[in-house]
Amino acid sequence: MTESRSLFGRAGFIAAAVGSAIGLGNIWKFPYITYANEGGSFVLVYLAAVVMVGAPLLLAEFLLGRHTGRNPFGAFVAITKDRPGGRLWSAFGFLPVITISLVGGYYYLVAGWTLYYCIRCVGWALSGFDLTPTEVSASFNTFLANGPLQIGVHLSFTVITGAIVLLGVKSGIERVTKIVMPLLGGLLLLLAIAAIPTPGFSEALRFLFHIGPLSADALLEAVGHSFFTLGVGMGILITYSSYMSKKQSIVRSGLLVCVLDTLVGLVACIVMFSIIFGVPEAERATAFSKSATIMFTTLPHMLFAFPLGQLLAPLFYFLVAFAALTSTISGLEMLVSVASDELGWSRTRAVLVISLVFVAIAIPTALSVGAHEGLSNWQPFGELSRGVFDTFDYTVSNWLLPITGLGLSLVLGWVVLQPKLREEFEIGHGQFKTFPIWQFLIRVVSPIAILWILWEVIGGRSFA
Ligand code: TRP
Repeated sequence: MTESRSLFGRAGFIAAAVGSAIGLGNIWKFPYITYANEGGSFVLVYLAAVVMVGAPLLLAEFLLGRHTGRNPFGAFVAITKDRPGGRLWSAFGFLPVITISLVGGYYYLVAGWTLYYCIRCVGWALSGFDLTPTEVSASFNTFLANGPLQIGVHLSFTVITGAIVLLGVKSGIERVTKIVMPLLGGLLLLLAIAAIPTPGFSEALRFLFHIGPLSADALLEAVGHSFFTLGVGMGILITYSSYMSKKQSIVRSGLLVCVLDTLVGLVACIVMFSIIFGVPEAERATAFSKSATIMFTTLPHMLFAFPLGQLLAPLFYFLVAFAALTSTISGLEMLVSVASDELGWSRTRAVLVISLVFVAIAIPTALSVGAHEGLSNWQPFGELSRGVFDTFDYTVSNWLLPITGLGLSLVLGWVVLQPKLREEFEIGHGQFKTFPIWQFLIRVVSPIAILWILWEVIGGRSFA
């Protein structure tokens, strides 16, 4: 099966991997958790989390995928088959299948919202935006409670994602991400430039880089976010790197992905905070509460008040929708690779069946944001989550990603024979002795950090 794999070009691999990493996590979630954790110190801790936990695990996935040339499940099977524990380890390769199936419920939905808001902003820009903040919030709540529309926006994202993945690795994913990613960088830069003359800009910078007190929860949140934003533990990076050329350096590509992902998060913070700090102090608490809905309630109103707001508001949602799209593509491709490697399915069949499963999972999720009372209030984990949407998010971020990450660090750090890995790791950059550093991080630092997260989660904490 592996011989028939098509490979990414060098830049294509980077575009696809960066595309997968940059998403709603960077543009929406990172700014709001940074804001909630008081800025500067949290950014530093987050950078440390990326360097010490996120990046080593990302490199572990790259290594596993390129070495085995398989999907996540097949990769774990192949690499552990002659080792102690054998097939038991492959359970870690199956977890991403569950993870992405759940993510397919809620991430696609939020991605669909951004697309819907892009179109909505075009309408508002054309007709002249004159809504009050309360009216914008109210219209978002009406939108959430509209069950058929929620299913519709999810479906639209499922169809677009499916169509691109259907075209294949080179002519679908590589082609689209190579166009979209530079565009995205350009758009974000444009927004950042537009933010410079706004009254909130200097305070935004000060907030982002000042050093203040920090809670233990912030540490946990930083590690957890480094997983989600890099896409570690989702099996995606294993799949993508199974399409990576043998000549490409894993370390260089991996570090580039981490740097670009972090940069985009920071620039998104500058843009968002410039908007937030532009509003009078008294209104800020409501303007930027720790709420999943901020991007659709307060933000449209603020964007239209921006210089060139009529243009920037639709552009902003367009940007976020595309950032989300290059992530959803990676999730679907991961499942397609499992179905085609392990079950022998054709790409077309895999895309169709998996998309149908996504839609089936999405229906209760889409109805759980207001349309259906029972689904919206479902609480299988007590106070830790409310509703199907929230419960899926809780399960993925608190349990599934850390457990898969733990599996990765145990298997690549301890179970697999190290000389084999070293050879693969050093292709393309043998002159730098980075392997021992990586090995220490993956053997010792990552498992300790993850076990700490899991300990807190077992103790009833939630940091999603
Ligand atoms: N890294 C993405 C983000 O920051 C999340 C992500 C990666 C993702 N791959 C995915 C989400 C696949 C859904 C499906 O937003």
